[in-house]
Amino acid sequence: MYESTEADKRRAQIKVKQLHHHAFRTKDMEATRAFYEDVLGLPLIGTFVETTDPVTEKPSNYIHCFFEFADGSALAFFQFQEDKYKESAIQGKQDPFDHHIALEVDDKETVFAFRDRLEAAGHEYMLIDHGYCYSIYLHDPNGMQVELTTKVDQTNEILEQAARTAHEDLKQWLDGVTVANNKFRKLRGAPAYTPGASA
Ligand SMILES: [Fe+2]
Repeated sequence: MYESTEADKRRAQIKVKQLHHHAFRTKDMEATRAFYEDVLGLPLIGTFVETTDPVTEKPSNYIHCFFEFADGSALAFFQFQEDKYKESAIQGKQDPFDHHIALEVDDKETVFAFRDRLEAAGHEYMLIDHGYCYSIYLHDPNGMQVELTTKVDQTNEILEQAARTAHEDLKQWLDGVTVANNKFRKLRGAPAYTPGASA
């Protein structure tokens, strides 16, 4: 019988479970795809086309692509159609589209528990319902953007569908088709889904 070690017991107490994704900006998603998928063998498992900036809730146009590791975590990249995103840069802090690290927690309750801890400690935060995951964003003392995220009930269904169309979605967007395809995202004030909309 396996006996749990001190490390197992210590790790069982940690609410932040593992890397969910690491996100970085790219100017060339196809070159990025070719490198990570064709050379390193990380499959493209999702291309989310978004037409609203979730920080400013203003029209924007970008894709968010995920390349999967064997443990289910991912490398993620953003590419914008134009430089409109620069307006959304947060003064003195890193823009989440430049770089952020996303860490996985078990459920929404845990996300809210961290929100309460952040609030009690006087930290700013932002909650975003991406549809395929639910996240809270914060900055560490170094200015690095950190996302704590959890899978939700519909995550598997959405991601299975996204994996089937990821390559076609990427090709279409690179060809200039800017139709939002993440109908599950819910922003605070902006429409969640705008079929046919382009920035
Ligand atoms: Fe993220």
